[in-house]
Parts: sequence; structure tokens; C-alpha cells
Amino acid sequence: MPASHPPALEPFLTLLRCPACRAPRLRPGRGALRCPAGHAFDIARHGYVGLLTGTPATSGDDAAMVRSRDRFLSTGAYEPVRRAVARLAAAALPGRGTVVDVGCGTGYYLAGVLDRLPSARGLGLDTSARALRAAARAHDRAAAVSWDVFRPFPLADGAADVVLDVFAPRNPSEFHRVLRPSGRLVVVRPTDRHLAELRGRVPGMITVDPAKERRLRRALAPFFEPAATEEVDYPLPLGPTEATDLVGMTPSARHLDPADAAGAGLLPGTVTVSVRATAYRRRARTAEGTGC
Ligand SMILES: C[S@@+](CC[C@H](N)C(=O)[O-])C[C@H]1O[C@@H](n2cnc3c(N)ncnc32)[C@H](O)[C@@H]1O
Ligand SMILES: [Zn+2]
Repeated sequence: MPASHPPALEPFLTLLRCPACRAPRLRPGRGALRCPAGHAFDIARHGYVGLLTGTPATSGDDAAMVRSRDRFLSTGAYEPVRRAVARLAAAALPGRGTVVDVGCGTGYYLAGVLDRLPSARGLGLDTSARALRAAARAHDRAAAVSWDVFRPFPLADGAADVVLDVFAPRNPSEFHRVLRPSGRLVVVRPTDRHLAELRGRVPGMITVDPAKERRLRRALAPFFEPAATEEVDYPLPLGPTEATDLVGMTPSARHLDPADAAGAGLLPGTVTVSVRATAYRRRARTAEGTGC
């Protein structure tokens, strides 16, 4: 148990809400955050706060997936994607402000945004304890808490200037609630060309649903409108380790025979990275609320 709370958590103490009773302001002490009603949430030895208690979340990366993701991202292979995310976030937030990264994984993208914005602070949310360990160390100005994107976020209304959602599950109404009126949501998702070569090579690797883009548009439309989009497309040469990690960090890893994953490593080549990053403007009132 840490003697004191991580410094990066300090600016969030007034923005967090007790997940049990919604009380504003959590106070640190004795290795936990506590609300005035006495609900307590442990600060893990690894620096993240366990706000998610009770029924476990139904999704989240396991330790092997997180290790693969960490190794793969540390090669710099997705740096062009990270730069696009940082550009879109910086356009929305030129100075001080709060960035919330939902499904933050190892905190790779959050760290990139904070590097680009020297006065901003960041909070990563994820269900995976292994990912949160990494996210809590990803940047001096990044804190991390366990949370399930499908539950009401433990954050005050309008607490965030930017919400990031990079290859992660989404909760549009909560994104809308926690963003301040002029805030931006940045969503990154794969196009149907993304890693197509690897999919062909590795049986069982999940394909990108062609209707995904339409579903995203429909889900976000009541709450957000697109403000700017960057398409990031480039060829990525893969060695055996990167190929295996790239397969290992996807949800497909759970459905794959390890021999298939190893096979992917034995068959390195070049794959296409193809993602779309969009910054969305928050609608003043939701179309749901106005009956549009
Ligand atoms: C494909 S990974 C992306 C991670 C990170 N954004 C990145 O791109 O490196 C999806 C992330 O969402 C997390 N996740 C899955 N289900 C979740 C949920 N219900 N609530 C919060 N996070 C979740 C996983 O643990 C994982 O870290
Ligand atoms: Zn409480």
C-alpha cells in the first residue's frame, strides 16, 4: 500500500465522484480514496485506484494481451496514430485542461497527448488491472482508475475537456455528460483495410465489421457531430516478434490456437495500418433530449 497517493491523482480529487453514492470529492488517506459517507477505494501498490468494486466487468484485456500491447507499442509502430490523436486533442485543447482516456490500455495514447500539451493532466479508465498498472506509470501527469465504460462514469458533469477513445468500447451518453460544453471527443477505430494481410494469414482473427462505421455514426449522432477527421494509412513491416505481439494484443488472441499466433510470427511481412481518427464536437443538447 503506498504511503501517499500518486501526485498525478491530486487534480482529480475534486472531479471524481464516489461510484457508490455519487458524493463529490474523494479524499485520500491510508492507501485509499474515501467519500464523506465512508465508501473506500484502494489505491493499488502499482498506483491506480480501484474504483470498480462489486460485479466484475465482462470485458477487459488479460495480462498476456497487455504484455503484447506494451511490447508492440514500445516499438513505435503506431507512433503515426499516436501523433494524429495528439494533434486532434491539441486542436481542441491548446492549454491547460483535463484529458480522460476511456479504455486507456497501457496509457500509450494518453501519454502522447500529455507530451503534446505540457499543462494538461490525464486520467485513464480501464477494467484491466494489468493495463492500469502500466497506465499509472505512463506519464507524470497521468492518473489511472479502474472503471467499466458501460457504467455511469465516476466523474462530475463537464469534468473533461477531451475524452479519448482509442480502439476501445464506447458510452456516448457518458462521454457527453463528462465533457464540458466546448469539449471534444476523439475516437480512433480501424478501417476495413486495417491489418487485412494479417487477418488473411491468421485463422480466427476477428474481422472488422463493415457496418461498424455506420453503427458508430448512429450511436454518436444524438450526442456529437464530427469536427475533424484524420485518416492514417501506412505500410508497416513486421518482424516475427511484432507480428506475434500484434496478434496477441487483439481480442482474437483469446480465440486463437497459440500455434496460429506463432505461425503469424513465422510469417512476417508488411501489413497495412489503416485507422480513422475523428474529433467530435459535443452537441449542446442531445437529439434524444429534444426528441429530434
Ligand atoms: C483494444 S484495447 C485499446 C487500449 C488502448 N486504448 C490502446 O489503443 O492502446 C481495448 C481496451 O479497452 C479495455 N476495455 C475492455 N472492455 C472495457 C470496459 N467495459 N470498460 C473499460 N475498459 C474496457 C481493455 O482492457 C483494453 O485495455
Ligand atoms: Zn460514497
